[in-house]
Amino acid sequence: KDGRSKDQFGLCGCFLCLFAVILLCRTAVVAYVEDLDDSFKESRMDDVWLVDFYAPWCGHCKKLEPIWHEVGSEMRSSGSPVRVGKMDATAYSSVASEFGVRGYPTIKLLKGDLAYNYKGPRTKDDIVEFANRVSGPLVRPLPSQQMFEHVFKRHDVLFVYIGGESPLKEKYIEVASELIVYTYFFSASEDVLPKHITLQELPAVAVFKDGTYFLYDEYEDGDLSSWVNRERFLGYLQIDGFTLYELGETGKLVAIAVLDEKTASEESTRLKSLIQRVAKEYRDHFNRDFQFGHMDGNDYINSLIMDEVSVPTIIVLNTSNQQYFLPNKAINSIEDLVQFINQVLDGTAEAQGGDGIIQRIRRVAYDAKSTVVSVFKSSPILGCFL
Ligand SMILES: *[C@@H]1O[C@H](CO)[C@@H](O)[C@H](O)[C@H]1NC(C)=O
Repeated sequence: KDGRSKDQFGLCGCFLCLFAVILLCRTAVVAYVEDLDDSFKESRMDDVWLVDFYAPWCGHCKKLEPIWHEVGSEMRSSGSPVRVGKMDATAYSSVASEFGVRGYPTIKLLKGDLAYNYKGPRTKDDIVEFANRVSGPLVRPLPSQQMFEHVFKRHDVLFVYIGGESPLKEKYIEVASELIVYTYFFSASEDVLPKHITLQELPAVAVFKDGTYFLYDEYEDGDLSSWVNRERFLGYLQIDGFTLYELGETGKLVAIAVLDEKTASEESTRLKSLIQRVAKEYRDHFNRDFQFGHMDGNDYINSLIMDEVSVPTIIVLNTSNQQYFLPNKAINSIEDLVQFINQVLDGTAEAQGGDGIIQRIRRVAYDAKSTVVSVFKSSPILGCFL
């Protein structure tokens, strides 16, 4: 009998414990993300804040919510000084509009008078990385060879200022304050660089990527900020819709091999290796104007150009005006591909699509049609009503 009552107590105690743990967890989770209101405008100045401006009715905001809690908890447990908050931008719309919030959710890092918009993928790791990067120093010194090697291993694309104080360094810091939302900026003295690197001139700005490095040349490359913007991607990328959107800001044309990676036909593999070779071997010719890469499947491209491209193929997109170019003959060799790209550059390739009025009307019709089709596929009855 005694034994049983002990058991009961044990069970009961367990439940109590569990209950307490759940309660504790809940309060802890809530505390990682602070709910912000009107008073935030005044109170925020002493700290660096990462804020999710949301609307209660918005689906993307709801999807972000659990991720946002994870962001808050990770920032806290890593000992970051950044405070994580969320604000109902519909309830405090005047504060939100002062911060320039126009859509939901908007993620911003607020640091004194500066506000940095987050535009990357909405995953915990990406957001935490962004917050740590932007809240830290604009330019991070690399005091030793070990440090250089350490960051070199960690980053695919690495910008380094090399030299002492100079007007170029001031410009570099200025560029960092604008572009730190995208990439890290480092500085080093010449003696921490690997021995095989010899610089003709100091100070210099270098980007380390694609297994080599490139130096910024003020006369050839134009202003430092647009050079960094052009160079912040690897020479050859796996491209998805999000990358394409990001690449738009570089103003480059995007040459893509559209492939089917699951079946990986011989033709797919051949085109991919051709475009990879052009990206590498013709970098000097094309890097200023082109970004190279491949995309798996043609769904995204089809909806972008409102047409059906065959797979595999090569397509060049002009993200500034939504025009695109397709080769008018088979690409059998690297020379064929180079010729096609040159034709796009010198204007002899025929442009299709674009953002003219006809195209915009087609876009509205196309989007309406795809919406109806996708609704019909998931729910035929509702599709009928539509
Ligand atoms: C891409 O679009 C921009 C903006 O309309 C235009 O200035 C540029 O010439 C286009 N590039 C090509 C290769 O068509």
